[in-house]
Amino acid sequence: MSKHDIEDEGLSNPSGNPVFETILNARLNRRQLMRGGLGSLALSLFSMTGLSGVAQAASLTAPEAKPGFKPIPPSFADKVNVAEGYSAHVFVRWGDPIGDTLGNPAFYANASNSAEDQLIQFGMHHDGMSYLPLPWGSNSSTSGLIAVNHEYIDRGLLHPTEPSFSHTPAQVQKEINAHGVTVYEVSQTPNRQWHVKRPSKYARRITADTPCRIGGPAKGHELMRTQFDPKGEEILGTLNNCANGLTPWGTYLTCEENFNGYFTNYSDDITPDQKRYGVTMKGAGYEWTKAGGIHTRFDCGLHPNEPNRFGWIVEIDPYDVTSPPVKRTALGRFKHENAAVTLAADNRVVVYMGDDERFEYIYKFVSDARFDGSDRKKNLDLLDKGTLYVAQFNEDGNGNWLPLTPNNPKLTAFKDQAEILIKARSAADAAGATQMDRPEWIAIHPVTRQVYCTLTNNSKRDKADAANPRIKNTHGHIVRWEESDAAADTFRWDIFAMAGDPASGVEANRGSLKGDLYSAPDGLAFDQRGMLWIETDVSTSAMYHPELANKQTEFKHFGNNQLLAVSPSDGIAKRFLTGPVGCEITGFTMTPDSKTLFINIQHPGEPLDDKTEFNDPRQPSRYSAWPDGGRPRSATLVITKDDGGVIGT
Ligand code: FEO
Ligand code: CA
Ligand code: CA
Repeated sequence: MSKHDIEDEGLSNPSGNPVFETILNARLNRRQLMRGGLGSLALSLFSMTGLSGVAQAASLTAPEAKPGFKPIPPSFADKVNVAEGYSAHVFVRWGDPIGDTLGNPAFYANASNSAEDQLIQFGMHHDGMSYLPLPWGSNSSTSGLIAVNHEYIDRGLLHPTEPSFSHTPAQVQKEINAHGVTVYEVSQTPNRQWHVKRPSKYARRITADTPCRIGGPAKGHELMRTQFDPKGEEILGTLNNCANGLTPWGTYLTCEENFNGYFTNYSDDITPDQKRYGVTMKGAGYEWTKAGGIHTRFDCGLHPNEPNRFGWIVEIDPYDVTSPPVKRTALGRFKHENAAVTLAADNRVVVYMGDDERFEYIYKFVSDARFDGSDRKKNLDLLDKGTLYVAQFNEDGNGNWLPLTPNNPKLTAFKDQAEILIKARSAADAAGATQMDRPEWIAIHPVTRQVYCTLTNNSKRDKADAANPRIKNTHGHIVRWEESDAAADTFRWDIFAMAGDPASGVEANRGSLKGDLYSAPDGLAFDQRGMLWIETDVSTSAMYHPELANKQTEFKHFGNNQLLAVSPSDGIAKRFLTGPVGCEITGFTMTPDSKTLFINIQHPGEPLDDKTEFNDPRQPSRYSAWPDGGRPRSATLVITKDDGGVIGT
């Protein structure tokens, strides 16, 4: 996520929810305590479906998953390095044609493609993504669909000329069309090469003005109605699609994160609700409001309810190109990172979610109705009814899921369930949730069912608590919890890792890492063997760069952003892949046979200092020329093991 255009490191929580004055040692002791507790946890193996790792119970014990490759050193090079015995190929870049039946416009190196071209090309800045086997119900590892998010844009790269804020309607339309989600079809040939199928009847772009249905309690609510949608039933577009989730019925969840940055508020009349979500800025984001009076809905002084229509999890059916995306309001409105989906023992659907901003919260949704594996259609609206909870991490290692419902006596100020969901952050404040250090991805161990969450960093924390034990948390950490059942309302938690160099000269920055070093854990995923994969997102301004003035020596040992594999049983990290200059590593999906891994290189060449407003393709040597030697382009990598084996072994 770019530091320039859309703020993902803001600060909007004034609630002063309780923090717990404890020290690191107390918490580290708890690690042992929890390790003991694990012995009593009944382990059962949940074999992953080809789709999502959603539970299908079998009765085996957890295999010991350890990285088998030789780790690679940190890198400052403008290239991708991957462990020996593996190959990483650039698969699809921003601007490549998606295989739409309407045409396949080639990418122009000077970025002169039109808005119409962009509508059938991959969007910019790939983020979360999922592989779905074709046909639905199969376990195919050679034929599938990939749904991928395009989180945001760099205007300086998207257009051929020096960016200007007084841009034309056509330029704005190209920006809108470069957002959203792409669904595309892929196949692997017998010689193990992956291809995009062009044309494909599944190929589809969803953008920042594609009509989306509203599902769940907020549908039709007065706070969702606008001048252009007086019934509050249809929203144009999805914004800032960060990470993702996959349901057991084969739909894709795309998560709207920093939507606030798209709204400008020229009035001085900023409501407390707008403030709570950071919708406060004059001239913010890309200023789409200014282009010919077409997109005035992004002026939330004029259209105060329009921001209420973003910040949701959006469900897309990749197998049905005609189905509209649906904003699932029962899952709450905040700056969503990803959606980790599992099933409770009784087949209710459970979704864990983080709100990525300093001092924000971790949430869980539990559906009312149960997943039915025998009838796909029956499941399509499961996410419309259920209970949203928010996490309270107690100092003693226990935790509570606090219900965000009208029955909660602390939420009597809210008129109805819909208002609670639209103002989920304020409801969570009132309920007494624990303020976390920027919750990013959540991942569920396929065997133990323990849930892990990255807390990427928080430079503003001045009071430690048990779950966020560092004041000024420069490097971030990973918290985990376990529950008697995914639908339980209590949990036990501990801290899996404190990121940062254990040998750092700055005491507050010392980590508990074993093996290879990392900072700013962000993307997080388990593979089917139960190995944890960590993707990092050290911000470009913080990162050490040997050739430039900003030599942040605290970050010297981490190199460019990277992908590591960690065995949960011993916590030893091994560096698997390093990215080019100025990128973050994100998106993580494997084929069902675990022999192909797709990940994303996002924003290669992001400017390395705050004075530079945009990427400047005229100075490629200063930033990045990845992947093709010219204008840097976000891209998906396809990674295979040269001997045809399982990734990570
Ligand atoms: Fe889009 Fe919090 O990363
Ligand atoms: Ca992220
Ligand atoms: Ca991040």
